[in-house]
Amino acid sequence: MTDAPKISNRDLEKQISFFKDFLEKNGYYYNISRLYTLPKYDEKYAASEIKKYWENFIRANKGQEVLGNINFYVHTPFCRSRCEYCSFPSWELKDEKKLDEYVEYLIENFRFFRKTFSKIKFRNIYFGGGTPNILSSAQIEKLFSALFRNFNFADDPKERIWTYEFNSSVGELSKISLLRKFGFNRISFGVQSFSEKILLFNRRDSQKYETVKKAIETAKKNKFDIVNADLIAGFSTDTPDTFADSFQKLTAMRPTTITVYGLYPPSDKYLASHFKMNYPQYFKTYYPKKIPKLLKKAYDIAGKNGYDARPFGSMDFFWQFNDIRQLKKFNPRKSRGREYGGEFSSSSPSSTFGLGPFSRSYLRGTLEYQQSASQSRFDPEIKIYSGRKLSANDEMLRFVISSMEHGNILRPREFAGIFDKEIIDVFPYAMNALKKKKKMREKKGVFELFFKDSGEKFIFASFFAYESMAKK
Ligand SMILES: C[S@@+](CC[C@H](N)C(=O)[O-])C[C@H]1O[C@@H](n2cnc3c(N)ncnc32)[C@H](O)[C@@H]1O
Ligand code: SF4
Repeated sequence: MTDAPKISNRDLEKQISFFKDFLEKNGYYYNISRLYTLPKYDEKYAASEIKKYWENFIRANKGQEVLGNINFYVHTPFCRSRCEYCSFPSWELKDEKKLDEYVEYLIENFRFFRKTFSKIKFRNIYFGGGTPNILSSAQIEKLFSALFRNFNFADDPKERIWTYEFNSSVGELSKISLLRKFGFNRISFGVQSFSEKILLFNRRDSQKYETVKKAIETAKKNKFDIVNADLIAGFSTDTPDTFADSFQKLTAMRPTTITVYGLYPPSDKYLASHFKMNYPQYFKTYYPKKIPKLLKKAYDIAGKNGYDARPFGSMDFFWQFNDIRQLKKFNPRKSRGREYGGEFSSSSPSSTFGLGPFSRSYLRGTLEYQQSASQSRFDPEIKIYSGRKLSANDEMLRFVISSMEHGNILRPREFAGIFDKEIIDVFPYAMNALKKKKKMREKKGVFELFFKDSGEKFIFASFFAYESMAKK
């Protein structure tokens, strides 16, 4: 182990204030997962080049665990109408023909990549959006038939989670049983709130309580292993009572899991019109005060209704409440790649193959890329992907940020197991800064971290990001 470099108090304070300034000027970065997106995607690729990357990746990792943990992601970039709060990329559908075209487009992609993955069994599938259930039943059938004809997936249902995101106000609920018929075992409903005022104010008033209830009932009748429903906490007119009311109503419908997201305002414009604030004000004054009050209510109600959750931190951005009894029945086999949540996951040795505009893909230790342009017809030679190559150094940073994101803990043994290096040798300066400011304590071989809010967490995560970039 190398000796930690000495940092003078003066230098340390200077760095902290530098990161603080950066944070103030770029309020978007209160969420440390945004540190992943700091490096620019400078390179452009066509599908033919992406194909070669995957082929080389599969060859280079022959026999390794990572090849049994590749996830398949499909983005549906359309919605019936755009909800005002939404930070996910999609277009309002203006022309129904676009959906047929899109299904064709995806199927052409399947054919093009079929051979590349002929020896791979994908683990998880995630259809995210946008609104994947904007496709008609016939379109879904056509798409899935082609998907399962062209690719192989883990055989054991307990080894895989196949998710479909579903907006219950769009189209017929009969699509729910169709998804189950094709083997999907997790369905995720966007609910956000049951307050009519909030829904109206956010242009989501097409959603009706009765329809959500029916949709969750239908999913449960169809025996999905996991029925998830999302709520958002922190809308401008949300109060502890309106939030508690939504949470209570949702627990009564008994989804397997309830995911609560802290509102992450999608734009300056949204913040100005709904909150009369800018990002720093929102994250400094509003979010840390309001969210704990709303979440406290959720914890009380969850506890009384058989839902469990890990203790929450006020600087978190999402919380998952689980109906333990229902979840136990599913009892997925332990596999590090199984908790795929649609975005590229980090600490597990998984990778992701994504298709469709805005989809993101990740070849662990090699490349990450996003489809940044759309095509009406598939053309393998047009450079529609932007990305960047990944070094071991990038992966080590990803490990740290992800550990900080999913709990305030760093596990040096896990780090050494994956990278064959000591975390303290790779990030001596950042680790020293944490120690010196008494933000870290070693206990039973792990480092526990203590931050007073998301801003502070961001500042210390930046130490790691800068130390990593300085190595280039
Ligand atoms: C990709 S969206 C798909 C939702 C689906 N189209 C629907 O409307 O039911 C997944 C989830 O992200 C969450 N979400 C969207 N925008 C958000 C924001 N600005 N802040 C926090 N959560 C957000 C919502 O809870 C939403 O259900
Ligand atoms: S919440 Fe769902 S329906 Fe609303 S804009 Fe976002 S993706 Fe579309």
